Amino acid sequence: MTYEILTVPLAELRMRTSMKWRRYPPDVLPLWVAEMDCRIAPPVAAALHAAIDRGDTGYPSGPVYEQAVARFAADQWGLELDPARIGLMPDVMGGIRNALQVTTHPGDHVVVDPPVYPPFFAAVTGTDRQLLEVPMAADGSLDLAALEAAFSGRLGVRPTAYLLASPHNPTSRAHTAEDLATVARLAHEYRIRVIVDAIHAPLTDPGVDYVPYLSMPGSEDALVLFSASKAWNLAGLKAAVMVAGPAATKDLAAVPYDAARGAASHLAVLSHTVALDEGRPWLAQLRSEIAANRTLVDRLLAEKLPAVTQLPGNATYLAWLDCTALGLQDPYRHFRDAARVALNPGPAFGSVGRGHVRLNLATSPEILTEAVSRMAASLD
Ligand SMILES: Cc1ncc(COP(=O)(O)O)c(C=O)c1O
Repeated sequence: MTYEILTVPLAELRMRTSMKWRRYPPDVLPLWVAEMDCRIAPPVAAALHAAIDRGDTGYPSGPVYEQAVARFAADQWGLELDPARIGLMPDVMGGIRNALQVTTHPGDHVVVDPPVYPPFFAAVTGTDRQLLEVPMAADGSLDLAALEAAFSGRLGVRPTAYLLASPHNPTSRAHTAEDLATVARLAHEYRIRVIVDAIHAPLTDPGVDYVPYLSMPGSEDALVLFSASKAWNLAGLKAAVMVAGPAATKDLAAVPYDAARGAASHLAVLSHTVALDEGRPWLAQLRSEIAANRTLVDRLLAEKLPAVTQLPGNATYLAWLDCTALGLQDPYRHFRDAARVALNPGPAFGSVGRGHVRLNLATSPEILTEAVSRMAASLD
């Protein structure tokens, strides 16, 4: 396979001013925060250049993003969505906080399954809700028996909501239809409101079908957050949508304007809309390159660093690395200081993340090879 997207040379990447490239000194290879080392998809770049040339930098108008999400969901996932049940949000995490606020009460318990995207913890505690942690199974899939125990109150508290990353970050797993069907059945039975973060949904490996939670019986009162920002690397242009199941339209309507449409950016809406409509061939190529990098990292680890293993993944551009066999006190700190490779520290994803690091696969094969080589050499 020929790489066309994850090919940006290191010297060019180092000129970037975003978080990934500015947090660490220039001798550190940054493979941490979820930004991709690509140039943006040509139709998106053209639309942004044209908007700037027009001076078109005002407020967003009309349900264009909502309609583009409905087209994308229908074409890519076979999911028919009524744009009237889709609402603009400032970004995914803001949308999650909004969803928690309209579906639960202060003091309520919300289930999260670590290791999980660190801001999930703060979204729950920051809205005065309480965390109920139900770790993922060791293979990175959902622990359905543990979820049932939690939903039913057998862990000592009765949660009211479940915050589910689908696909999951950092275990890089697209949940199966069977698992999602069980979650929806249990949530319906125990009256748990499911809030789904589907930001990585377009990023399954080629041949892996993303299964939308809203296609499951029992999911009717769920709220799903989605954005084109991850798959097309547009985090600097923040916008997202909240998709309400047919029994949750009143919850979407209850989100205050200032926390929803009133906080989204016009250029973000414009660029995400073009990405969803015209950035599909680019996305298909990107998915192939990410899958190739996942395989490359498996091979590099086996050759150079066999004590470290990558959890088998089939979605997202993130890799969850088990470093426990190295016996290091803090693998993140070791690789940062001794290898000059910046990863994400596992414990940020919950205490079950001890001994792990998260690696960002969305870079060139050359940079990945250099990073794993440095990591291996740091242990000699
Ligand atoms: C699972 C997940 N949710 C949300 C976000 C952030 O989304 P936003 O910037 O739209 O809040 C990320 C970013 O990496 C993510 O991985």
